[in-house]
Amino acid sequence: MAKDKITIVGAGNVGATTAHIAATRQLGDIVLLDIVEGLAEGKALDIAEATPLQLFDCNITGTTDWQKTADSNLVIVTSGLPRKPGMSRDDLLAKNVQIVKIVSEKIAKYSPDSIMIVVCNPLDAMVYTAAKVTGFAKNKVMGMAGALDSARFSYFLATELGVSTKDIKCLLMGSHGDDMVPLPRFTTVADKSITELLDETKISELIERTRKGGIEIVNLLGYSAYYAPAAGTVLMAESILKDKKQLICCCAYCDSEYNVGGHFVGVPTVLGRNGVEKIVELDLNDSEKAEFEKSLDHVKQLTTKVDGLNKLKR
Ligand SMILES: NC(=O)c1ccc[n+]([C@@H]2O[C@H](COP(=O)([O-])OP(=O)(O)OC[C@H]3O[C@@H](n4cnc5c(N)ncnc54)[C@H](O)[C@@H]3O)[C@@H](O)[C@H]2O)c1
Repeated sequence: MAKDKITIVGAGNVGATTAHIAATRQLGDIVLLDIVEGLAEGKALDIAEATPLQLFDCNITGTTDWQKTADSNLVIVTSGLPRKPGMSRDDLLAKNVQIVKIVSEKIAKYSPDSIMIVVCNPLDAMVYTAAKVTGFAKNKVMGMAGALDSARFSYFLATELGVSTKDIKCLLMGSHGDDMVPLPRFTTVADKSITELLDETKISELIERTRKGGIEIVNLLGYSAYYAPAAGTVLMAESILKDKKQLICCCAYCDSEYNVGGHFVGVPTVLGRNGVEKIVELDLNDSEKAEFEKSLDHVKQLTTKVDGLNKLKR
């Protein structure tokens, strides 16, 4: 069977870590691309040299040449500035929209049949930019955020409850930012909602820590997280390439779903070989709906800013 070809754009912290995890999972042949001469090549060579030690088979190459990415099945976009202490994700918009625009034009040219996972921030606005510039079918462009945010919430819950993270099923929605919408009623431990296991104050505390999960790491490191973001990206990539049809929260195009009206926003999805194969509609109560609408308003404001910054074609 022919192997899949995966391009990872950006060989920085998230891109290189994504490449390493994807290689160990043997998801396909990997091309790592960066604009910085030698960076992607060096990281790819280092990962390739780990293959005999970590016992995985994977062809991985690094390049600055888009030609070498041609006909990829999956393209992961991590090329973007990360946050520094004191910055919000939205502060990255003006610079990253230009990078994502350039990169998306190349992806449309060299891998017109690919599926795209965008990782750059501000996430929802960058997914919108990528979809608009490539003109790809809406189910083929998505963003990684929900996987990470749910992993953070699950980790905090597991620590609090003294259970394995494996026993927690977490769903959340909305934009990737302070107004994300964790859903305690739909977050379960061994099929019991966490609302039955923890009091409201504790749940609110853990939600707040999840909302601020990114900046907690930025403040500790001076730059943004990458191990968990890369793991979240590979989870999505694997569900797509292996047609696993896993339920994963991600930034996906919604129209009638949740009455979104044509925007990319975080929702529970089923990811398979056709990209976003289904958007799962939860029976939200009034306060969950109100939180989601507030989050969606934020997404709409960001996409309006993107349109103002660029005369995006298509
Ligand atoms: N969605 C999420 O949950 C999440 C989590 C963490 C980080 N991020 C975002 O991911 C992005 C990358 O973060 P990072 O920590 O890896 O940053 P980084 O600075 O370590 O890496 C970014 C890389 O992109 C490269 N690059 C820039 N312009 C390029 C272009 N035109 N073509 C090819 N490569 C280009 C840079 O040279 C750099 O190596 C940031 O925008 C960050 O905010 C998102």
